[in-house]
Amino acid sequence: MDYLRIQGPTKLSGTVTISGAKNAALPLITLTLLAHNKVTLTNTPEVADIKTLLKLLENLGATSTLKNHVLELDTSTVNHTMANYDIVKTMRASILVLGPLLARFGHCEVSLPGGCAIGQRPIDLHLKALEQMGAEITIHAGYVNAVAPKGLQGAHIIFDKITVTGTANIVMAAALAHGKTVLVNCAKEPEVVQLCEILRDSGIDITGIGTSELTIIGTGGKTIDMVDFEIIPDRIEAGTYLCAGAITNSTITLAKVRPDHLDAVTAKLEQMGCTIDIDGNNMTIHPASELKHVELITQEYPAFPTDMQAQFLALATLAKGTSIIEERLFENRFMHVSELQRLGAEIRLNGHTATVIGESPLFGADVMATDLRASSALVLAAMAAEGTTNVHRIYHLDRGYENLEQKLLALGAKIERLKE
Ligand code: EPZ
Repeated sequence: MDYLRIQGPTKLSGTVTISGAKNAALPLITLTLLAHNKVTLTNTPEVADIKTLLKLLENLGATSTLKNHVLELDTSTVNHTMANYDIVKTMRASILVLGPLLARFGHCEVSLPGGCAIGQRPIDLHLKALEQMGAEITIHAGYVNAVAPKGLQGAHIIFDKITVTGTANIVMAAALAHGKTVLVNCAKEPEVVQLCEILRDSGIDITGIGTSELTIIGTGGKTIDMVDFEIIPDRIEAGTYLCAGAITNSTITLAKVRPDHLDAVTAKLEQMGCTIDIDGNNMTIHPASELKHVELITQEYPAFPTDMQAQFLALATLAKGTSIIEERLFENRFMHVSELQRLGAEIRLNGHTATVIGESPLFGADVMATDLRASSALVLAAMAAEGTTNVHRIYHLDRGYENLEQKLLALGAKIERLKE
């Protein structure tokens, strides 16, 4: 198993190019299941989760090549409809094949994803919506068996809770359903917006894009002629590098970003005393003269993202004063707290709220990555800590951060990948 050895404290400088968004690429790859043509996706991040999903699609009968961030994908040859446990257990986002497979073939069997390190993460809202569209769903031997012999029917669906992959799954199902589907209380994340835009550009009648209510007129089972497209920049990777600048007290520039997708994150960094300059698709962060404490609550887009909570928690350990960080989306997303405490952070946890006593001197130690974003928070803290930190179990990082150590090395970090 690989681990990262980081020497701190580090000063960074220069420019880092942001990769395509993993969480946009995942649903967009499953979207190609609705197409009858070969599709080219550019700016595809070459991270483990994408490779896992491509493997799943290949098991279903698709062919793909991914080289230099260009993904060529042909799902016209798909002839299996079973997403098996071996792959789904390694990546929850595999559930994104459920809507498209059911819509295209009228039946499918997808392994239940189960819980993960950040919480239970049920898929009840995906299933309930598909049932409203006429699917008959049974759970047997750990699999969701879904059938819709007459095809899916348009429906009026109100999500009880805002769900990102739930919205994506049902949008894809509705695109091939018979008649009109109205979806209320949808996720408005940029990744969902791009999915809807690609469907619109591919000829699907879809309105309300970017709002919480979407109306989709389905094709009645006919596959679509899908356009080629470029995946949007990864706003969470970008936010993580902004935090890298802030935590190491360095000025760095991010290239190939969508600054408008980062408004909630930049607002919090500015409240903490950092300055951010925007120049088209570039963003430069100048560190705070004195880092101030912060109060934040994670919520759905456009509010502050849960995927940036761990990184801000790391940053808050160095700030002047006491920060309050509330996690509203996932019940167990504070696994990084005990690891940050190993580095010397003073953090008190009470249910969904972390109270961070700032200006803790951080010292290098052995720490363990527990999930993707928790891992990046440990890397950030390690760059600010005095001495050597070994971050173990970095396979979590490899799932979603492309070339993290090469990008940080190029910025001047002292970081190396070693084998246990
Ligand atoms: C997506 O997960 C992201 N994953 C997550 O990123 C991200 O943290 C999350 O959205 C929130 O922004 C991908 O896009 C692949 P949800 P998702 O359904 O869609 C509850 C990362 O690090 N819920 O919006 O699975 C759920 O338990 C990852 O890149 C139900 O109760 O999240 C949670 O409390 C981690 N029933 C809330 O809704 C359901 O059927 C939001 O979850 C579905 C969700």
